[in-house]
Amino acid sequence: MAEIKNILSEVKHGILYLTLNRETKLNALNFATLTEIREIFTEVADNKDIKSVIITGSGEKAFIAGADISEIAELSELNARKFSENGQEIFSMIENCHKPVIAVVNGFALGGGCELAMACHMRIAVSSAKFGQPEVNLGIIPGYGGTQRLTYLIGRGKANELMMTGDMIGADEAKALGLVNHVLSTKEEAMAKAEEIVRKIMSKAPLAIGMVVDCVNSVFVPDEDGYQTEANSFARCVKSGDYKEGTSAFLEKRKPVFKGA
Ligand code: COA
Repeated sequence: MAEIKNILSEVKHGILYLTLNRETKLNALNFATLTEIREIFTEVADNKDIKSVIITGSGEKAFIAGADISEIAELSELNARKFSENGQEIFSMIENCHKPVIAVVNGFALGGGCELAMACHMRIAVSSAKFGQPEVNLGIIPGYGGTQRLTYLIGRGKANELMMTGDMIGADEAKALGLVNHVLSTKEEAMAKAEEIVRKIMSKAPLAIGMVVDCVNSVFVPDEDGYQTEANSFARCVKSGDYKEGTSAFLEKRKPVFKGA
């Protein structure tokens, strides 16, 4: 892996902890950081020691306050398209990751920050967190998949309202809208909740978890027959040793020991 400068990373007990680490810039996503996320998620797919990922922001104030505005102030049309496609591709890597990825949103999740959180499989927020897509204030729109994911997550009317007004909402409202799974009072509690969830997921059959990811994501792929994807994925599961182990363990009244194969 090339040198990672803008993200702190540490693997503990199968969990890769990623902390966006540009605190003085409220962890704004510059091109270099995005490239690091691409490299990290390429590694996550292949690294057997990594079984789940938790992403958060450094400091108390921000998860990610958006794309780095200093880098997007003078884009040409061509570069704007590339900027958007690059971010979309990297965030899709997160969304399609076969290992659970949880965002612990510890402050502002604005623009690209809200979009990155939405690309994760789940979001746990600190009660002081703020979510928003304020791009219209800059004369642009969300470009890292936000127009699509926000609409899927909270519905057309509310997504339109947030993206057209640029308003921020608090964690409780985000939870009521379905943007956030859980809200906890402090970052430590939010992290503990994320760990509790990933530990539970890591005790299940990894292949089946990956198939859940594929099937859920297929709902959002136009022209893909999600029921067909589900049937194919179901059939793939039964070729695994974990399927034999899971069903045998139930019948033998013992806990299954999954091997991820
Ligand atoms: N890109 C680049 N730098 C950013 C940034 C972003 N998206 N968001 C914050 N920063 C920088 C600020 O420029 C400032 O840097 P400086 O100290 O070198 O001047 C630093 O982070 C702290 O931000 P500041 O604005 O002083 O904090 P605040 O508490 O007054 O306001 C926000 C916090 C989040 C409301 C405000 O920073 C903001 O609106 N950020 C932009 C959000 C946005 O539009 N995101 C979508 C981008 S497409």
